[in-house]
Amino acid sequence: MGLSKPLGAHAIVVARVAAIAFSKEAGMEDLPIGKAFTLIEPGPVVLVTTSDGRQDNVMTISWTMVLDFAARFAITTGPWNHSYAALTRTRECVIAIPAVDLLDTVVGVGTCSGKDVDKFAKFGLTRVKARHVRAPLVADCLANIECRVADIVEAHGIIVLDGIAAHVEPAREERRLIHAVGDGTFIADGRRFDRRAAMRSKLPAGV
Ligand SMILES: Cc1cc2nc3c(=O)[nH]c(=O)nc-3n(C[C@H](O)[C@H](O)[C@H](O)COP(=O)(O)O)c2cc1C
Repeated sequence: MGLSKPLGAHAIVVARVAAIAFSKEAGMEDLPIGKAFTLIEPGPVVLVTTSDGRQDNVMTISWTMVLDFAARFAITTGPWNHSYAALTRTRECVIAIPAVDLLDTVVGVGTCSGKDVDKFAKFGLTRVKARHVRAPLVADCLANIECRVADIVEAHGIIVLDGIAAHVEPAREERRLIHAVGDGTFIADGRRFDRRAAMRSKLPAGV
């Protein structure tokens, strides 16, 4: 009985340390924020993490768009999702980009609510402390973009986000992105075609 309290406290400390590793310790590299749009432009299904200070949560989003090379994005969502309250109150989130080996997790995360369940525990997702926002990075994903809410267009459920830091996982083997058709089927990335030379006049410097 006398021992159970200290051991319990130790277990909690260990669990918290595991959840607060920094991006470099988790094998992530910084991506210049001016290149972050290249993570969203292919139109992948993404995970969006939030934190209200008491609970971290994660949802699936397939309705995304790039608004500017300078790391401005939009996602479409609404108050029927538990994430919405934390997203609009903290005005922060992380966009995490999964590869196709996480397809079942992506579907699972998008078909249950943080209102009822701790999704990080349920799906065994590893959280990593973000640099600028309280919402966690997801170590299991290919890339993560820390974002601040720039605007909310309530009439259309559009959340405009400014990317402020981006992290990529260069050592990850499976790199094919997930694309949702919208009818419950999904497509994984196929072959990549290089037309950089022809596109040069339309590409921002350094991309
Ligand atoms: C493949 C897929 C794509 C989804 N895309 C969106 C989306 O673009 N916008 C949205 O609001 N919800 C989307 N959802 C639904 C949310 O992820 C879902 O309602 C989730 O349970 C919300 O979690 P929360 O209540 O913990 O916030 C999608 C779900 C799946 C499975």
